[in-house]
Amino acid sequence: MESKISILVTCLTFATAFQLLLPLSEASLKVGFYKKTCPRAESIVKSTVRSFVRKNSGLGAGLIRMFFHDCFVRGCDASVLLDPSPANPDPEKNSIPNNPSLRGYEVVDAAKAALEKECPGVVSCADIIALAARDASFLLGKISYKIPTGRRDGKVSNNAEVLQFLPAPFFNLSQLEASFAIKGLSTADMVALSGAHSIGRSHCSSFTSRLYPNIDWTMSQRFGFFLRRLCPQNATVDGVVPQNFFKPNRLSAQYYFNVESLIALFFSDWTLLTSQKTAQQVDAYTKVPGLFEADFAKAMVNLGNVEVLTWPKGEIRGPTCRL
Ligand code: HEM
Ligand SMILES: *[C@@H]1O[C@H](CO)[C@@H](O)[C@H](O)[C@H]1NC(C)=O
Ligand SMILES: *[C@@H]1O[C@H](CO)[C@@H](O)[C@H](O)[C@H]1NC(C)=O
Repeated sequence: MESKISILVTCLTFATAFQLLLPLSEASLKVGFYKKTCPRAESIVKSTVRSFVRKNSGLGAGLIRMFFHDCFVRGCDASVLLDPSPANPDPEKNSIPNNPSLRGYEVVDAAKAALEKECPGVVSCADIIALAARDASFLLGKISYKIPTGRRDGKVSNNAEVLQFLPAPFFNLSQLEASFAIKGLSTADMVALSGAHSIGRSHCSSFTSRLYPNIDWTMSQRFGFFLRRLCPQNATVDGVVPQNFFKPNRLSAQYYFNVESLIALFFSDWTLLTSQKTAQQVDAYTKVPGLFEADFAKAMVNLGNVEVLTWPKGEIRGPTCRL
């Protein structure tokens, strides 16, 4: 009896010590993190995103891609937003994958400005990106999910790290899998997230190696001839084409039909057909209504957990997300 009590007391002591220590060690992300400190935070981001995406749905695609590019380099810490400064003379936004193609910066700026008016110094830029990508997924794909918040912002941004971590459109399946695996994401997450290539655009330079001198056999030859007209060889300007010629502004499983029909833009898209496991996942998305949307939502939450900074690490950057 006495030993039982002493075990109980010991357990209680440990539990109390643990509870006290937890907030000292590290906080974690949670849904509704700003409920008390800035109750309107999520609705302010949502209405900002809505007003921009209504005028230009391409910005919705840009925001979803921005979330990916942020999270894959130093975690989801808004490092992608930092402008050149003495501390970061050559930041991520200067890199080839981000410049000139990454877009949506003005949406984040507007959301941050509105949030600083409402509750100064409270909402991180990293959370603005995560929330904006969530809201864009709803506006373009009717995909809705809760995204945990509480990320804090990083202070470092380095051009050289971008090419090291972001997968390239000429990657094969094992290279793609490896670049997701080092960020703690599964191949299944990768296949689901790739459905974002149902929206937005690409510059010709991202896939012209598949068109010249020969049309790659991994692409529909008809599609190749069609793309050659939109992306002439040796053109002086880098043109842009939609990722998805059917419904370019609809985040949907159409991407997987395009992959199977060999009419997706990138070699990396085609590689999803090169293992039985990924090809089956692609096929399931073309056959099971709602499956892509459900998996995409879960994978976006997983993407949002990559290497996050939580209190006491990082900072709440402000008054703008660029400095
Ligand atoms: C699997 C590896 C991936 C590769 C190799 C890749 C590569 C690319 C490339 C080359 C472009 C075109 C950029 C340009 O030339 O303008 C692009 C566009 C895009 N990507 Fe990816 N991507 C990948 C995964 C993802 C993921 C995980 C997401 C988000 C969940 C995403 C979302 C987008 C979106 C929305 C666009 C269109 C952007 C716009 O219209 O502004 N991509 N991607
Ligand atoms: C993918 O590319 C890498 C690097 O070029 C190569 O080592 C590997 O064998 C390739 N894998 C497949 C499955 O083609
Ligand atoms: C494009 O440039 C390459 C080499 O610079 C040349 O061989 C080719 O003939 C040019 N093609 C066109 C259509 O001008």
